[in-house]
Amino acid sequence: MKRFIDNRNKTLPWLLGLLLPFLPAIATAQETAPVSGSGMSAVEQYIVWGLMGLEVLLLLVVVILLVVIKMMSNVLFPTSEVSPSGELVEPTKPWYQRMLTKVNDAVPVEREAEVMTTHEYDGIYELDNNLPPWWTAMFYATIAFAVVYLLYFHVFSLGSLQEEEYEQEMAQAKIEVDTYLATAGNSVDETNVTFISDIGRLDEAQKMFAQKCSACHGMAGEGGVGPNLTDTYWIHGGDVKDIFRIIKNGVPEKGMIPWKSQLSPVQMQDLSSYIITLEGTDPPNAKEPQGEPYERDEELALN
Ligand code: HEC
Repeated sequence: MKRFIDNRNKTLPWLLGLLLPFLPAIATAQETAPVSGSGMSAVEQYIVWGLMGLEVLLLLVVVILLVVIKMMSNVLFPTSEVSPSGELVEPTKPWYQRMLTKVNDAVPVEREAEVMTTHEYDGIYELDNNLPPWWTAMFYATIAFAVVYLLYFHVFSLGSLQEEEYEQEMAQAKIEVDTYLATAGNSVDETNVTFISDIGRLDEAQKMFAQKCSACHGMAGEGGVGPNLTDTYWIHGGDVKDIFRIIKNGVPEKGMIPWKSQLSPVQMQDLSSYIITLEGTDPPNAKEPQGEPYERDEELALN
C-alpha cells in the first residue's frame, strides 16, 4: 500500500509530462486559428492534423511502455508475497486486474490442464479457452451496428450516401466560390484590374458582349456606331486598365454608355479581357482605325 501512496504523489508531474508533446500542435493550432473558418490551407491542415495524430500515437506508446514498466515493477499486478511469518499472502487484486480477468475470460496458467486439448504441434498443445468476452461483445456490436446502419441509410434513407454527400459538398463549395468572387470581385477597379485568361469566363464575356455591346461595336467587335475593337488602335488607350475604365465610366458625350451600374466589376474585368483577345482577329466589314496605335508589351497567353 505504501508504494501506491508514493506513486500517487508523482502522478501530476507525469501527467504534465505527457502533455508536453502536444504543446507545439496546440501552439500551431492557435497561431493559424482561422477567424472566418478557412484561414488554413488544406495542406496546412493535413500537416497539423498529421502531426497531432503522430503525437497521439507517440503518447500511446509512452503510456503502453509505462504500463509495461509498472507491470514489471509488480505494482500494477501484485502477486502473492511471503509474509515475515512465512505465510503465503494473496494480495487483494485491484479492480482493473479483476476487470481484465473478466473481459479476457482466460483460464489462468495454473489451471491450464483443464482446457488443454489433445491437439499437439511440435510439443505445443492447443488450449480450448472461451472466446474473450471483449471480442464477442465487439462482434455482436458490429452486427447491431450493421442493422442500425442498414435501416438508417438504406431503408428509411435518413442519411445521405456518399454520392449525395459529394453533391452537397460540391454545391456548398460552389456557393463559397461564388461569394468569394462576389466579395473579391468588388475590389476590382481600374487601378488594379488584370487580364484574365480563364476560358469559361471569356465565354461568358462573349455572350455578354453579343447582348450588350454588339449593337454599337458589332458582333465580332468590328465596329459600327462605336469604334473597331479588333485593331491595334485605341482612342482611350489599349491597356486592360484603360479598357476597364472606359467600360466602367463610359464616354457619355460620345455615345459610349457607362456600365458601372449595370455590370459587376468582375463582369467588366471579363469584358475587358475578352476585348483584348479580339485584337488582331480581323473580322469582315472592319471599321477604319481610330485613335493611336497601342503597343501591347506583355504576351497574353490563353489557357
Ligand atoms: C450605344 C452604343 C454603344 C454601346 C451599346 C457600347 N459602346 Fe462602347 N463605345 C461607343 C462609342 C461611340 C465609343 C467611342 C467613344 C469615344 O469616341 O470616345 C465607344 C468606346 C468604347 C471603348 C473604347 C474604345 C477605344 O478605342 O478606346 C471600349 C473599350 C468600349 N466602347 C467597350 C464597350 C463595351 C464592353 C460595351 C458593352 C458592355 C460597349 N462598349 C457598349 C458606343 C457604344
